[in-house]
Amino acid sequence: MEPKLLLSQLAADTLTGLSATPKYLLSKYFYDDRGSRIFQDIMNMPEYYLTDCELEIFSSQKETIIQAIRPPNKMFNLVELGSGDGLKTKILLQHLMDKSIHFQYTTIDISAKANRELVKKIQTELPGLNVAAKTGDFFHAMNYLNGADILPKTTLFLGSNIGNFSDQETELFLNQISAFSKKGDKVLIGFDLKKSPHVIMRAYNDPHGLTRRFNLNYLERLNRELHADFDLKHFEQHTAYNPISGEVKSFLVSTIDQTVNVGALEKSFHFYRWESIFMERSRKYDFQTIKALAANHRFKVIRNFTDHRNYFVDSLWTKI
Ligand code: AVJ
Repeated sequence: MEPKLLLSQLAADTLTGLSATPKYLLSKYFYDDRGSRIFQDIMNMPEYYLTDCELEIFSSQKETIIQAIRPPNKMFNLVELGSGDGLKTKILLQHLMDKSIHFQYTTIDISAKANRELVKKIQTELPGLNVAAKTGDFFHAMNYLNGADILPKTTLFLGSNIGNFSDQETELFLNQISAFSKKGDKVLIGFDLKKSPHVIMRAYNDPHGLTRRFNLNYLERLNRELHADFDLKHFEQHTAYNPISGEVKSFLVSTIDQTVNVGALEKSFHFYRWESIFMERSRKYDFQTIKALAANHRFKVIRNFTDHRNYFVDSLWTKI
């Protein structure tokens, strides 16, 4: 007899998501090597203001930031979750090195390729920096971090990655960060702020079609890795913003009545005409909510670093 199917995490999560009503897929799987590349193209679009804001914050306030994130006169561990191409962090790393501040850098990202490229870039552009890279998702990444516990630690979670989480995931994540942070340890979290819905929609419903490609690449990934037969021309991408919850939601909508087979699951999934798959949430915050999030997880906001338009904040918290 054939052994029962042993499913990869991607396969198991896809089975759960496509069997649910309404259908959904987990946004962490956007970032295969191609998806990470498309996301870099998204970051380079002028409409995607988030990256420019955080670059502005880091370049114009780097001295204040590094003095605020380091413990005085002590070696420390700078941990980054979801570093991607590390472009923004490089500004801080460079400045810490210029000031001869002693630290080690640990980077954790879900894409092995993004990690490899980042380490290579650091070795050539910041020689002498003590860097370690781990591949994994944020929740599992926490396990790696306990080992480095002897040193004071500052954890970076930049780029509004936190915006992808549901309320439940945010709870879980902040509880975990709080549990592995010692009193006095710090976290710097990038939150995208509520702003004109027009500005937000241009970033997530872009005229270049990159958001659409980013979403369709997910289906292509399932075709490649799970031997599925999604026909991309029968799905359209849709973005919606809710200014009350602050959530941008992205969907793929089936334009016809169709059945999709997923070979690796030995299963097929039916789509009614105009049935949708919920793909991703990108939540926008306000200062009151950020302050409450910190307080509810035994942190205190030390300082908020914002860009000149107040579009984005890197919020620095300390464990109490
Ligand atoms: C990588 C989660 C910060 O939500 O803004 C960008 C991903 N998706 N455009 C975001 C994304 C569509 C991005 N994050």
